[in-house]
Amino acid sequence: MQHAINGVQMHWREAGTGDPLILLHGFPFNCELWEPQLNAVPDGWWYIAPDLRGFGKSEDSGSDALTMDRHADDILALMDHLGIDQAVIGGLSMGGYVALSLIMRYPDRVRALVLAATRASADSEEARRNRLEQAATVRKSGIKVVVDSMLPKLFSAHSKMKVPETVTRVRKMMDGTSAETMARALEGMAQRKDYSADLPNIGVSTLVLRGEQDEIIPAGDMEAIARTVRGARHEVISLAGHLPNVEAPDVFNKILTHYVTMLPPALKLGDLSLSF
Ligand code: MLT
Repeated sequence: MQHAINGVQMHWREAGTGDPLILLHGFPFNCELWEPQLNAVPDGWWYIAPDLRGFGKSEDSGSDALTMDRHADDILALMDHLGIDQAVIGGLSMGGYVALSLIMRYPDRVRALVLAATRASADSEEARRNRLEQAATVRKSGIKVVVDSMLPKLFSAHSKMKVPETVTRVRKMMDGTSAETMARALEGMAQRKDYSADLPNIGVSTLVLRGEQDEIIPAGDMEAIARTVRGARHEVISLAGHLPNVEAPDVFNKILTHYVTMLPPALKLGDLSLSF
């Protein structure tokens, strides 16, 4: 599917009908990252996986940083376009940064949160400097520097051995991302806010999911989210790395399906007045 959203053509994939779950991909991937989830939508659910601005088949214009707030605003506009008042928002890694921006700024639009392989903190000064240096290198010499440095860290040793075709598919996704999008996304992630202190304000059901052997997001970052968000459910997928949804899709889907299908019914606008 494709439509003009906030001035650019945005592309997304969707599957199923019913209650919406929006799945936000990480950096530097695209909506195809959610292929195993789009193939396993439970009855009564509508999964929507957008290509974030500049990624996959979504266009972009401009040359400034692709900030998490900008992506979140695009997702809000996509929800408006699709007639969705409230959705479950799921995000993996950079997609999780976008999900946090969305719930912190538009809490009424989020029914529940799924945070996978992500963190609430901002970059340290050193990480920020590294990102900006990487952005400059990508602009000058192309995307290889990012792909070559990230790919070995994305998968657990077990996954590299067991699902080599998934590693190839993910590499293809990364290779398809333009140098300009990568550079601007690196600049956007370097600017992201620190939401650690705001986590106790999250008032919706939250599922925190991580691969046991994630080399990119330290376990402590995810444990901090699980500890701080009230009532959060924390699941660790053994033998998986930074991309548990493609490394162990059956386990990931089982947890996700169980979680969404057990959520309390969505509140309709009229429900509030009826309860008084
Ligand atoms: C991602 O997978 O989205 C990135 O690893 C996030 C990051 O670089 O912070």
